Amino acid sequence: MDAHDQAPIDDAIERAIGEIGAELSSAFPSSARHPLRAIDQRAMDLASADRELKAALFRFVDVTPACRSLDDLARHLREFLREVPDAPPPLAVAMRMADNKAGRRAVGAAAAAGVRHMAHRFIVGETPASALGVLHELWNHGVATSVDLLGEATVTQAEADRYAGRCDEALADLARVEAGWPARDVLERDTSGPIPRTNVSVKISALTPLLRPDAPERGRRDAAERLRPLLRRARELEAHIHIDMESLDSREAVLDLVLELLSEEEFSRGPSAGLVLQAYLRDSPEQLDRVLEWARSSGRTPPLTVRLVKGAYWDHELVQASQHGWPTPVFDVKAECDRNFERLTRGLLDARPAVRVAVASHNLRSVAHAIAYNRSRGGADSDLELQVLRGLGDQLQDALASRGFRVRTYCPIGDLVAGMAYLVRRLLENTSNESFLAAQAQGASLE
Ligand code: 2OP
Repeated sequence: MDAHDQAPIDDAIERAIGEIGAELSSAFPSSARHPLRAIDQRAMDLASADRELKAALFRFVDVTPACRSLDDLARHLREFLREVPDAPPPLAVAMRMADNKAGRRAVGAAAAAGVRHMAHRFIVGETPASALGVLHELWNHGVATSVDLLGEATVTQAEADRYAGRCDEALADLARVEAGWPARDVLERDTSGPIPRTNVSVKISALTPLLRPDAPERGRRDAAERLRPLLRRARELEAHIHIDMESLDSREAVLDLVLELLSEEEFSRGPSAGLVLQAYLRDSPEQLDRVLEWARSSGRTPPLTVRLVKGAYWDHELVQASQHGWPTPVFDVKAECDRNFERLTRGLLDARPAVRVAVASHNLRSVAHAIAYNRSRGGADSDLELQVLRGLGDQLQDALASRGFRVRTYCPIGDLVAGMAYLVRRLLENTSNESFLAAQAQGASLE
């Protein structure tokens, strides 16, 4: 069926969405289990409330890894905050303290600890070895993971080689350790067959410095040279490789690359692989058609996993479009994006078994809709995967796991420098005035 001409969902499904949403929200762990979250949340609420303050704090977070000393850090903070017209009282105190050297040390240390603390919420460890404890604990709680090695927008060949090397090592290290974990049927099997425990998400912009919209062919060829060995390694280890989508200017090149490589004879029986569909893009329904057409005609096994997301580069796309005087490629009204997300969810679920479906959202309505629609089509819960981001979807993750759904948490690994772009995207999401999480923190009901 074509994704564009679906019937609107009926009342029975609407009712089921309400029931599933209520059940999941009653399974949300109380925030008492996440005591650190409250502190972060206050900082984020402060930032959401004030545009200038938000901009100043973002610029500060961005320069933190490059600061050479606490003194340096405090000077930056003071300079950025000077541009905020009415700094809230705690920050005004910090600015006054930063006027002398001893004060600057104290302010610098507090600010550095704050940024590290915030980063720690979203990033599980600096290396795969240091993250294994968290990954194992999640698995024991009934949560699968996808590991993302932080780093993107590579500028040299040596850097791209290093990133590919880190991915290769992570695949091998994770597969070795994860093989010893206890069996978890929900996380390891669906109607299409076994689901790998080891799951690594890869960014093409980190695999080549040549990914440029005006010369896509060069970047694609260069990235293919590094992606092929990773696919071979994943096949050997029976691991899953997921290719993340990034900003729109690289989307065609990434999609062409992935579909081309997965069509190659040597990959026709593995590894398990996937890509991402971004529902905030107005043309995502056409992308869905293209991916489904490929999935149906390729005959490749196991089926391609499609992770449906809203999209993380919203601010970037808006700025890019306005700089060039282009029409915005993303929905600017949240409700339109949410509706499109649901339409794409149904298109994907209807296309099984040609694809495996992973719905990645922190929006309870979107998640409940996917579950309800799947059930209405006679689908087993195990034939729908739900995904969340570490640090943003923890409570939803726990609720889903407690109700027996297969939930996979996206777990970034790396240092603060490599993770800065990722961290800024998460902060932008969490301080957006339309954020579901922000609304929930303000006490809005989940429904
Ligand atoms: C990002 O890196 C989660 O892939 C998404 O923002």
